[in-house]
Amino acid sequence: MHTLLLDACDDHDLKKAGEILQNGGLVGIPTETVYGLAANALNGECVKKIYTAKGRPSDNPLIVHVSKISDIEPLVKNIPEKGRKLAEYFWPAPLTIVFEKSDKIPPEISGGLDTVAIRIPESETARKIIDCANVPLAAPSANISGKPSPTSYTHVLADMNGKIDAIVKGEDCDVGVESTVISVVGETPVILRPGSVSREAIEKVIGKVKIARQLKKHEAPASPGMKYKHYSPKAEITISKLSFREFKKLVESDSDCTALCFEEQADKLNAKTVTYGKLYDSSSQAKALFSALHKLDEIGATKVYATSPIEKGVGTAVYNRLIRASHFRTIEPKVKIIGLSGKTGSGKSTVADIFKENGIAVIDCDKVTKQKETYTEKCLALLQNAFGEDLVIDGNLDRATLASRAFKTAEDTATLNKIVLPFIIERMEHIINELIQKGNTIIVLDAPTLFEANADELCTHIVITKASEDIRLDRIIKRDNLSEEQAKLRLNAGKPDDFYERAANYVINTDSGIEIDKINHIINTLKEK
Ligand code: TXA
Ligand code: MG
Repeated sequence: MHTLLLDACDDHDLKKAGEILQNGGLVGIPTETVYGLAANALNGECVKKIYTAKGRPSDNPLIVHVSKISDIEPLVKNIPEKGRKLAEYFWPAPLTIVFEKSDKIPPEISGGLDTVAIRIPESETARKIIDCANVPLAAPSANISGKPSPTSYTHVLADMNGKIDAIVKGEDCDVGVESTVISVVGETPVILRPGSVSREAIEKVIGKVKIARQLKKHEAPASPGMKYKHYSPKAEITISKLSFREFKKLVESDSDCTALCFEEQADKLNAKTVTYGKLYDSSSQAKALFSALHKLDEIGATKVYATSPIEKGVGTAVYNRLIRASHFRTIEPKVKIIGLSGKTGSGKSTVADIFKENGIAVIDCDKVTKQKETYTEKCLALLQNAFGEDLVIDGNLDRATLASRAFKTAEDTATLNKIVLPFIIERMEHIINELIQKGNTIIVLDAPTLFEANADELCTHIVITKASEDIRLDRIIKRDNLSEEQAKLRLNAGKPDDFYERAANYVINTDSGIEIDKINHIINTLKEK
């Protein structure tokens, strides 16, 4: 079969796509999540062709795509209140809602279930194509079943050229992971597949929802799609839950492997790398993941170690896809290193004390930066070289003189940091190792400048304390005996608020005192795994 290439920017081409679909053909179409393989959803014979082209088991049901909320009425038996609320609040969006189906839905769509999954895509091109076709469109991801989903038209071309009638060439997909799937059929809505519309966002609209449990072998899946091998490149992937430091040792000790890591990490690794998005930026990771999995195939990677995304918000969806691509292979750390950070006055020390009360070792990183042991002979020599021989008297660093010289200009400060930070990290690693020798399995780094010092590279988890500006201001005025003016100057030192939120595995809000239940929960979770 010849596969026609159509252009998403050309309205004639979109009309052509619509015609092909109306006449029973298959068309690869861009959406904001991944490229879909579309067919007329109301015609069972057309739908069957999708399963053939993808090599997909026919009991894995398909999502029906429409362009207006009113279009769903003929397709469903009823619209529960919570389903309507979700639809009205989110659509068009990367959100699929499962309803009880009407007789209009052919059995080929629903794989024998009495429900149907529907979504209105956010992508304008996708909605235009639906309108041109003038029928609801069934559209799974346009990949060969079991392979990574396509997020650019070249991926579709590679899997589907010669097997389908046409491909509409559009931009790369903005979201990059498939839609969130939620069923509103039962009493409490259940998220069947995580996507970029997060649980938190959904719960703000309809209250508590459940999350479908990870399948164990031989269990009946709530969503049939959950039981199949998924998103697999040819390479054998293992997700590392280790700190970046340990990850680096792992990948550098195995010359056959490729590291699947974040952009900021690639230059720090002496290994082959493929990147998927930015560190602490789940949306960019979602957008880049499938392309990265395709890339691994392209470069012929056979053994891959991947840095783990943070399982939060859209990161949950990224992890969900990556863990399937890895066939659930992970490397867990023997010792958990927790970076505890947050803005000044956010309650870090109080939380650190609670960790201590629970028998957990806490390293005060501010102290380490001042310890004599941190400034080794080599470190002192480098400092003398940069800031003057007279800095060291009888082997002791004259900190006041150093400060007077190193904080003069931003450039000087940068030089100081470049020299000193690696020694601070080395010293911390040394202290950590001593604590591990003594049998500690959870160690907290109490570090206001965790990220600035790159000490996050030592960590397996990050806990952030947070409080509103008024409260922090009040606290630091009292704590450090400052005037309001002085306090205000210090208040915003550090990274922007949203950076801390994105970097955190756990956030502890201390506005109305300490959330002790939450801290206990965190401690128990850390002890468990
Ligand atoms: O973002 C997306 O949803 C993309 C684009 C093309 O729209 N489509 C997509 O389709 O990911 P597909 O077929 O690859 O995944 C559909 C998922 C599967 O996990 C399937 O089991 C589930 O939705 N699903 C479909 N109908 C269902 C139903 N009636 N009940 C429960 N789960 C259903
Ligand atoms: Mg799929």
